[in-house]
Amino acid sequence: MESGFSLAGKWALVTGASRGIGAATARWLAGQGARVAVHYHRQREAAQATLAQVEAAGSSGLLLQADLSQPDELSAMVREFRAASSQLDILVMAAAATAFKSVAEIRPHHLARTYNLVVGGLVQLVQEALPLMGPGGRVVAVSGQGTAFTLPRYALLGSAKGAVEVFIRYLARELGGLGITANCVSPGVIDTDSARFYAGDAYAAFVQTVAASTAVGRIGTAEDVAAAIGFLVSPAAAYVTGQVLVVDGGLALASPPFMDLPASGARE
Ligand SMILES: NC(=O)c1ccc[n+]([C@@H]2O[C@H](COP(=O)([O-])OP(=O)(O)OC[C@H]3O[C@@H](n4cnc5c(N)ncnc54)[C@H](OP(=O)(O)O)[C@@H]3O)[C@@H](O)[C@H]2O)c1
Repeated sequence: MESGFSLAGKWALVTGASRGIGAATARWLAGQGARVAVHYHRQREAAQATLAQVEAAGSSGLLLQADLSQPDELSAMVREFRAASSQLDILVMAAAATAFKSVAEIRPHHLARTYNLVVGGLVQLVQEALPLMGPGGRVVAVSGQGTAFTLPRYALLGSAKGAVEVFIRYLARELGGLGITANCVSPGVIDTDSARFYAGDAYAAFVQTVAASTAVGRIGTAEDVAAAIGFLVSPAAAYVTGQVLVVDGGLALASPPFMDLPASGARE
């Protein structure tokens, strides 16, 4: 049985690899020796930069473009991957997009776009990629803490990620016999474009508040999340499946009303 952390000889497909967590994951996997298919939606130049970093790490790969909320585009992307490789060992779903709205503001097109991408895209990609995967295969989906906690204007993405976590559990159960694992990584607040977009003009203050609420005293980097994904897709993680690995610097450990109490007891 394979062991350790090397991904030499393996092929990975990372969605949303033009930026943020997906891009860092592509770099990480390449650093462990995997060839990487770098998927993007609109930002071709950014994806080209990721591929250049994959190559700089001594590996190789290719670019794949698709709007993953569109089933035809997703199928065409998988066909393009198949033209390059008949083998896929690692599938990482990092792509996501949403409208940050209160429940009252959500319109049918917001719902359709978010769910078609985050839930529909995952289900279809897994279905179409599975024939290329065999024993030792790894599926990782990036979820988020909006599944466990309520965050302002996050009902749409949080509920979609909740579906992702449940789907991954079923997948783990169904694929275990094939030697394939399926897990989620759930990031806390990570310094990427989407976190900046979420907080808007309040980003600097948001970062300060969040950092102070973590155990480790800072917000996360895309590399922090990539390292956790790197573990889950490694041979060493063969016995870990159906799990949600929280990568939040201890943010979820905080209980706000209690945090305001003095660190040491008031009794003399
Ligand atoms: N950042 C955080 O604090 C945080 C926290 C919890 C969970 N997450 C999750 O982590 C994952 C990565 O987030 P991030 O912050 O790294 O995001 P990001 O920097 O905003 O990147 C989003 C990625 O998704 C791609 N994408 C957007 N719409 C798409 C579509 N319709 N079809 C296909 N791809 C599409 C983008 O492609 P283009 O660049 O080509 O547009 C980009 O590569 C997401 O699933 C997000 O929900 C992030």
